[in-house]
Amino acid sequence: MKILVIGSGGREHSLVWAFSQNPKCQEIHCIPGNAGIKQLAICKDLNILDNDLIISYCKLNKIDFVVVGPEAPLANGLINSLTKNNILSFGPTKEAAFLESSKSFTKSICDIKNIPTANYILATSKEDALNFIEKFIPPFVIKLDGLAAGKGVFILNKKSEAIEIIKNIYLNQNKKIALLIEEFLVGHEASLFVVCNGKNFKLLGSAQDYKKIYDKDLGANTGGMGAFSPALNISPEVEKEILDKIITPTLTEMDERGTPFSGILYAGLMITDKGPKLVEYNVRLGDPECQVIAIRLGAQLLDALLYCSTNEFSKIKINYADDFGVTVVMASGGYPNKYETGFKIKGIEKFKNSKDVEIFHSGTKYIDENIVTNGGRVLSITSRSSNLNDARKKTYKVVEKIDWKNEFHRKDIAKKTYSLI
Ligand code: AMP
Ligand code: GLY
Repeated sequence: MKILVIGSGGREHSLVWAFSQNPKCQEIHCIPGNAGIKQLAICKDLNILDNDLIISYCKLNKIDFVVVGPEAPLANGLINSLTKNNILSFGPTKEAAFLESSKSFTKSICDIKNIPTANYILATSKEDALNFIEKFIPPFVIKLDGLAAGKGVFILNKKSEAIEIIKNIYLNQNKKIALLIEEFLVGHEASLFVVCNGKNFKLLGSAQDYKKIYDKDLGANTGGMGAFSPALNISPEVEKEILDKIITPTLTEMDERGTPFSGILYAGLMITDKGPKLVEYNVRLGDPECQVIAIRLGAQLLDALLYCSTNEFSKIKINYADDFGVTVVMASGGYPNKYETGFKIKGIEKFKNSKDVEIFHSGTKYIDENIVTNGGRVLSITSRSSNLNDARKKTYKVVEKIDWKNEFHRKDIAKKTYSLI
């Protein structure tokens, strides 16, 4: 079959890599792709928010199956358009993607179905927000309601800081802004990935990611600086609780509302001493969490997504080896704030045929024969091994041999892990 992957990050590179190993995949395309993806797929630089253009591309190239990586085209209704044009695709409709694009929407689902999550109040004006903050104790959690590319969550220790953030958010804003003020959850974070179609679902895997820019979880939030899989803080009992008390009621409620969810439901969870609680949903695979799941599942990943889309759940076989995946993100110095690009990446060629190590590209492009940096997150070096520490060492051995001007990465990915609670 001819497959099209939408996106240009390490997540999409790992999907293209995994799909290419499946005999079902005869030809693979990617819009827009990057320098790494170009080595495996036919890449076309089109606007991923132009649904009509993507439909024309699919028709012209006789694409059989489309997998959408990032959230923006999902929230923009790409799946709705593909379905209308009878093109098989993997991902949620625009209406189902509200689970990521609106935090208040997700909270309303939690309210109706009694899903464990942080207590919250929704404020729709500065006055409300300033009033509601009085009802919480520090640390204060303040969230913008809509998609904010990881920049919409503020966690503050002092009330004066919380008040200042609220005032800043509403400064010079004419349009209505909704804010969620939430209870701060104490525990360990984990991510669970489930493939869903309506009320049917199957667990795809789990991971723990590192969101902060610096070692020891210090500094600003990023899209993710590394991850490992499986998560070590999800026991079989906790996993059952997540599926029964969080995933199942969510899918039931979405179905009852006439907007069934299909695609990946990525549950961001806090494992607390009172059990797992939902922090947020994403409606796609995580980046870089996808990389550690892809390296462990390989070709099986295509079958899982394909049979989920055709609602043939009995055909989905997810057989993990008893192994671990570790990924370390190499970034441009300055990320997640201002950074420079266009630097030549040195040392990648040496690792082309390394066993169980893959160099997934994010922000890269070709200039002539050279691969240069072209984004904040540049590469995610990903390994697998039967032992977490081995996978970690294998990954860092490669990280240390790759370089460019101002390169930056965390040195403690998969070092400190949380055991079961
Ligand atoms: P979100 O975009 O909602 O996942 O929030 C980003 C990050 O902020 C999460 O991964 C957590 O580390 C943290 N966070 C969000 N909400 C809470 C909460 N209620 N309690 C504690 N930490 C939170
Ligand atoms: N790594 C977090 C995300 O993809 O949202």
